[in-house]
Amino acid sequence: MKPNSSPRLLAAALLMGTLPGTAAIAESPVFEQVKVEAGAKLFDAECRRCHATDAKHESYGPPLENVIGRAAGSYPDYDYSIALEASGIVWTKAALRAWMEDNSGFMPGTKMRHVGIADPTVQDFILTYLDAITTRDGSEISK
Ligand code: HEC
Repeated sequence: MKPNSSPRLLAAALLMGTLPGTAAIAESPVFEQVKVEAGAKLFDAECRRCHATDAKHESYGPPLENVIGRAAGSYPDYDYSIALEASGIVWTKAALRAWMEDNSGFMPGTKMRHVGIADPTVQDFILTYLDAITTRDGSEISK
């Protein structure tokens, strides 16, 4: 057996992501697409009953298009709680993770019913979907 094909070295190479292909798959467009689709399904299951993604659909909570990078409480004409409107935060991915994990703990006084999505993988998928519906130039999407 050649020294560099020992299982231990192979495992170490896998852990470090140095084998050809391991990093490439995680960064490939196919994988990104799978994450967006999984995120859309999780969003349907956990969020869509209260959140449309655009202004064209009825939405009990504020529509979430362009939410990444948006100032909290700034969707036009939405009647926010004072807590959210006065929070002064911006919806970064880190803030959205904390919100999904424990929104009422993160922001006491919010009128969004408590959600407790603590699994970072589920958060990751939902964030990838939210990223996909963020146009960054602020233009509206229609989904
Ligand atoms: C039971 C209804 C309901 C569910 C389910 C729900 N939300 Fe909300 N959400 C609301 C309401 C109502 C608000 C407004 C809260 C306020 O004004 O304090 C809100 C606000 C938000 C905001 C702030 C947006 C802004 O414009 O500042 C984000 C982000 C958000 N929700 C994300 C989510 C995500 C992601 C999910 C799914 C994991 C989710 N919500 C599930 C009702 C809900």
